[in-house]
Amino acid sequence: MVLPGRIRPFIFGRRRLAYNPAMSSPGPLFRPYSRLVKIEILGKPYEVPEGNMLLRCFQYLSPEEVALGRFCWNEDCQYCRVVYDLGEGTPQRSAISCKLMVQEGMRVVEVAEEIRYCLRRVVSI
Ligand code: FES
Repeated sequence: MVLPGRIRPFIFGRRRLAYNPAMSSPGPLFRPYSRLVKIEILGKPYEVPEGNMLLRCFQYLSPEEVALGRFCWNEDCQYCRVVYDLGEGTPQRSAISCKLMVQEGMRVVEVAEEIRYCLRRVVSI
């Protein structure tokens, strides 16, 4: 029964719509990790969560800036490109950090301009 002058709650089908935080939550930002691994970025040491992609590790160091960066996270933009090696005497490789798993002792020797900008407060460049 509808009473004139009264506002009815919005009903979709037979159920009332209600805010459900579980439905809008994107899930945890980082893959589960139990320890931090030591890496080097442009010659400076950092500790980042193991078992995560390198770009996510950059986000660990600079959460706001990387979240607002122009990253596609799916291999399209190439704004996350880095050059890295795995320690003294190992070959340097180019990779996209959104698909590169971080490893203990990884040394990032070059970063794309977008990453450089996002890490500007963490790594004084
Ligand atoms: S974030 Fe776009 S290719 Fe990695």
